[in-house]
Amino acid sequence: MSTPDDAGAAADVSIDNFNATKLREALITDGFAVAKAIVPEPIVDAMRDTWLRAYADNIKQAPVIWGPFLGEANRILFHRSDSCCMYRAYDFLWNRPIDVTTRSIGLKLHRLRNCVAESQSLDGELIREDRYGIYITTSYYPPNYGWLAEHRDHADGRRHWHFMLLMTMKKKSYEDGGLFLINRSGTKTDIDSLVRPGDVIFFDGTLPHGVEPVSGGAGLGRLQMFSIPTFMETPQKNDRLLEDITFKRFFRAKLRPIKRKLIGFKRSSGGIY
Ligand SMILES: [Fe+2]
Repeated sequence: MSTPDDAGAAADVSIDNFNATKLREALITDGFAVAKAIVPEPIVDAMRDTWLRAYADNIKQAPVIWGPFLGEANRILFHRSDSCCMYRAYDFLWNRPIDVTTRSIGLKLHRLRNCVAESQSLDGELIREDRYGIYITTSYYPPNYGWLAEHRDHADGRRHWHFMLLMTMKKKSYEDGGLFLINRSGTKTDIDSLVRPGDVIFFDGTLPHGVEPVSGGAGLGRLQMFSIPTFMETPQKNDRLLEDITFKRFFRAKLRPIKRKLIGFKRSSGGIY
């Protein structure tokens, strides 16, 4: 993983080929667009190596997180169910980045995404009173069994448009499968086959999309990075936080107000003040 010292200058994106107006028009008409040559290939290669190494470790099995809570720790999880099989890293912006380069590139691409979607540049990075915000994620679909069922992302009134950076390439790292989208004309489109290293996909997440089982090629599987917008939950209502709390801490916290009451009674009746 890269550190703040070695990421800095290298972690940049090129906007020479970036035309927000054209991309926006394509998203409105078709539901997707590919911006060419945005992230320098050496950075994509470095990120791919970092994440393939990370996902080769022993990864905890747990369901995909759909509602993170404010203050949640970063996590890397593996989930296999009847609707998906994937590894996913959750890099929440209030924590130190899991990988500095990924965080840096992710935020820059998220700002480009905001530009395409006509949102304010820092929208999603700054969490407002409705707790709408983003986190940076990489997802890894391992060869031969990685997939994600067709679905539409839930959204409120704002544009639920994603950017997506692929770090492994179709017809090289894997031969078959990958991201598909049913575009606004109802045509199923193989998005991954349109992408070259360093290109960035933009698509409307409210259109039906999914990842078909990834197989073949060099057998590396499919690795992607994007930001996920969501409404963060409050910690006290989230079961994952409760799971992390030890019984000792839980009972100590519950007993504290009682203790305070007793001590307060003692002090006032004992005339300490
Ligand atoms: Fe989705």
